[in-house]
Amino acid sequence: MGKVIAIDGPAGAGKSTISRLLAKKLGYRYLDTGAMYRAITYLALEKGLNPEEGNDIVQLCKNIEMDFTPPDENNISHIIINGQDLTDKIRSKEVDNNVSTIAKNKEIREIMTRIQRKIAKSGKIILDGRDIGSRVLPDAEYKFFITASLEERARRRWEEYKAKGIAISLAEIEKEIAERDLEDSTREVSPLVQAEDAILIDTSKMSIQEVLDKILSYIKDEGDG
Ligand code: DC
Repeated sequence: MGKVIAIDGPAGAGKSTISRLLAKKLGYRYLDTGAMYRAITYLALEKGLNPEEGNDIVQLCKNIEMDFTPPDENNISHIIINGQDLTDKIRSKEVDNNVSTIAKNKEIREIMTRIQRKIAKSGKIILDGRDIGSRVLPDAEYKFFITASLEERARRRWEEYKAKGIAISLAEIEKEIAERDLEDSTREVSPLVQAEDAILIDTSKMSIQEVLDKILSYIKDEGDG
């Protein structure tokens, strides 16, 4: 069976960029578990549900079909729910501001965890998130905890927003990320924590290539890509 690589860390640490490149290099699949929580959040807001009303959201989760496409030409796997491609829609400020509320619900996490374990079962996959190495897949062969300073993570998000033409100040993003980090790390169920056996990588002063090389230096069955 192929190996499983877990990549956890706070918002804006570079997990998805790194995971995508790593998946391509190794010929592995990549599952962005944050996209799953984001998609549920988007659907809940679209339906006018209150993110604090856990039962409504749990019902919503039970009535959806979640699929992921193979990577497109930009190496991005699309998230499809009930036939609707939500890939771009889940990257909005509104979703950013509500996703932590939904992600702290125990039942929702159980549903998502089950889906994640099922997808990971056949191996040769990278999953990124907050609780992959600590809870979803504690037996993953490789576990990395990727982080960066709050200032650097905010700067990276700001660049992303700027590229999309969204006007927002750096100070505002820094405040939002700090709030989301706090919510994600202090929630009762599966909080963001570094698994004891995870390798810590602080990417604050590293280029994407340096991070990739560092991770690959730990992984034994490199692909030929
Ligand atoms: O990685 P991201 O910013 O797209 O994640 C969005 C939110 O989802 C984040 O605030 C925390 C939550 N999340 C989680 O609780 N567990 C995961 N495995 C992945 C994401």
